Amino acid sequence: MQKQYIIRKFNPKDLDNVVKLNWVFLPENYPSFFFLENYTHWPEAFLVAESEGKIVGYVMCRVEEKYYRFSPVKLGHVLSIAVEKKHRRQGIATALMNGAEEGLVNAYGVDLIYLEVRVSNEPAISLYKKLDYRVLGVMPKYYSDGEDGYLMVKSISERASDRLITAVLGYRVKSL
Ligand code: ACO
Ligand code: ZN
Repeated sequence: MQKQYIIRKFNPKDLDNVVKLNWVFLPENYPSFFFLENYTHWPEAFLVAESEGKIVGYVMCRVEEKYYRFSPVKLGHVLSIAVEKKHRRQGIATALMNGAEEGLVNAYGVDLIYLEVRVSNEPAISLYKKLDYRVLGVMPKYYSDGEDGYLMVKSISERASDRLITAVLGYRVKSL
């Protein structure tokens, strides 16, 4: 039988468990205050997955603002997502991403959502492609070990045309 899980908002009492998941499953790590700071500003876009009372996944996002043709553009940025190894391929990351997108859109009104991912991270890249993110371009040597990153983006509002996306994020990538 498939194990059951729930998706809910992050709560500060989850902090140690989320920091631990981040340490175990990702090479990009952050101090505790960074998690709390993102939670404080954008609580609707910081979610955890819980299974049998244990935190088995999280997604943390933030919102950034840029300008395009003199008016502000809101960018949702998926900062970090991970799912406990034993609980993978059960749709948990998909559910976390869907919930985070809902928060980014409904609570914060973002025009687009973007993220960075290692070019070798096939599981994550296929997850994002399945969720309609596309590769905007490569960020050479983006990671501290020298690996390249892809910048992937999904347009949300009608305003988020290719032209707008290139204007607000294109400077970060070498186009494909
Ligand atoms: N190989 C190929 N495709 C995969 C894989 C894989 N190992 N894992 C997921 N996918 C794709 C599939 O299309 C899958 O659909 P399917 O199972 O119906 O075929 C789809 O993604 C959805 O999978 P989920 O079950 O929702 O994903 P899961 O809960 O397993 O979590 C994740 C995916 C988060 C990438 C997990 O593998 C993980 O924690 N990896 C380590 C941490 C990591 O790399 N995080 C992303 C870094 S980038 C960033 O944080 C912005
Ligand atoms: Zn990022």
